Amino acid sequence: MIIRPEQPGDEEAIGEITEAAFAGKDYSDQTEHRIVTRLRAAHDLTISLVAEDEEGIIGHIAFSPVTLSGGEKDWYGLGPVSVRPDRQGEGIGARLIRHGIARLRDLGAQGCVVVGSPKLYPKFGFGHHAGLTYPDLPAEYFMILPLRGPVPSGIVAFHPAFYGSAA
Ligand SMILES: CC(C)(COP(=O)(O)OP(=O)(O)OC[C@H]1O[C@@H](n2cnc3c(N)ncnc32)[C@H](O)[C@@H]1OP(=O)(O)O)[C@@H](O)C(=O)NCCC(=O)NCCS
Repeated sequence: MIIRPEQPGDEEAIGEITEAAFAGKDYSDQTEHRIVTRLRAAHDLTISLVAEDEEGIIGHIAFSPVTLSGGEKDWYGLGPVSVRPDRQGEGIGARLIRHGIARLRDLGAQGCVVVGSPKLYPKFGFGHHAGLTYPDLPAEYFMILPLRGPVPSGIVAFHPAFYGSAA
């Protein structure tokens, strides 16, 4: 299995994997595949990696810029991350997350945020920082991975693509 950047022609498979991964999940509204499409259309799919083996594309992860209320730059959001349902639990998601974080470091990112399971993301160094928050969500589901420098205080907003608009 290899992890590689998204290439032209991967779009449909990425959409299918994302839709299938989140299908039926009670924490999902089943629109995550559209977030990826909107990020791509907005040219804000900063990092888009696929996991691929002889069966084709079996996993995908996206990173995109987030906005901090204090105006700090170079912060990114992780997600969506998806592994084909019949291939989950094999370590593919972990490899996608680790590769993505390494790419963020290469880009000089200050840090990364994620909304997701507090059981999953601390394995990759994500944690809670009281000063940097995400509105309208129980605090345990919002986690931060500082990569350079201190964690600023403020409120985080994901890319508009996460809220139904590519603007
Ligand atoms: C979440 C997801 C990407 C993880 O990928 P995966 O290939 O199944 O995960 P891995 O096999 O690499 O497991 C990584 C670790 O996370 C744990 N883990 C996996 N999915 C988890 C979940 N949903 N909640 C909590 N822990 C989880 C595993 O137990 C494993 O821990 P371990 O290394 O201590 O054994 C995948 O299960 C998926 O596509 N789920 C549906 C979509 C989704 O929920 N995406 C994330 C939204 S925040």
